[in-house]
Amino acid sequence: MYSTLLTQLQDGIFTITINRPDKLNALNKDVFAELNEALNEVENNPLIRSVIITGSGNKAFVAGADISEFKNLTVEEGKALAKAGQTTFFRIENSSKPIVAAINGFALGGGCELAMSCHIRVASENAKFGQPEVNLGLIPGYGGTQRLVQLIGKSRALELLISAKIIDAQKALLYGLVNDVTTEAELIPKTIALLTIIQSKAPIAVANCIHAANAVFDHTQNGYETEINAFGNCFATADMLEGTNAFLEKRKPTFTGK
Ligand code: COA
Repeated sequence: MYSTLLTQLQDGIFTITINRPDKLNALNKDVFAELNEALNEVENNPLIRSVIITGSGNKAFVAGADISEFKNLTVEEGKALAKAGQTTFFRIENSSKPIVAAINGFALGGGCELAMSCHIRVASENAKFGQPEVNLGLIPGYGGTQRLVQLIGKSRALELLISAKIIDAQKALLYGLVNDVTTEAELIPKTIALLTIIQSKAPIAVANCIHAANAVFDHTQNGYETEINAFGNCFATADMLEGTNAFLEKRKPTFTGK
């Protein structure tokens, strides 16, 4: 169905694998187009409850935007490219279904930006992170200057942005860029285990957590107001009734996503 992605749906978890291993899964136009199609699937298929994004092969998650597509771009074309990339990554960040990046190697440039747009990041021990765009006379264009500062703070972010330094998984963990580091063999099983826990929670409440947490960085809204509304709206859900009743009746809740 896709030419640059592999997809698989199992037990509610939809795995999207960027599949250009000979180009270290670099993000070209085709990948972006198909990523948007896959995100349509995520939004429209009720059987999909959560998502893993990973890379094909054992060398790279994604080694960046496809540099071969940068040649001969005008200023306006450069802006359009950044805008399109940002739009796709906003869709990931604002997805009501949880999306975890399983980072299995190089996550450079657009690859690091893709990982940062996901809600949670799990890395294998061989993962490497960086924004090396200044090596190309460029800067990140898919939200990297913003999300790197959000995730690791301005000081560390600027060091990575302006030095093009590449950091390993342990340093990424120390910086808070990733949530967990594991062996290559355990990367997908551990990510599935995490999503299995998340999938056992009330889906509308999970979606509201994502929505309210994203509001921190959205200057068009007041995060505390967003939280008040999201909290209040939970009282209209069957799952809130089920969750609180189950607690009071000392039993496990069965959530329906309603
Ligand atoms: N865009 C396009 N092609 C890329 C790419 C990218 N971002 N990253 C890697 N590739 C391609 C290489 O051109 C090469 O293709 P080829 O075999 O047809 O020549 C193939 O992927 C393998 O990469 P190679 O550089 O040979 O692997 P390596 O192990 O020697 O080095 C990296 C790995 C990640 C250090 C190196 O590929 C690299 O620096 N990539 C670019 C990273 C970057 O600047 N990303 C930000 C882009 S905005």
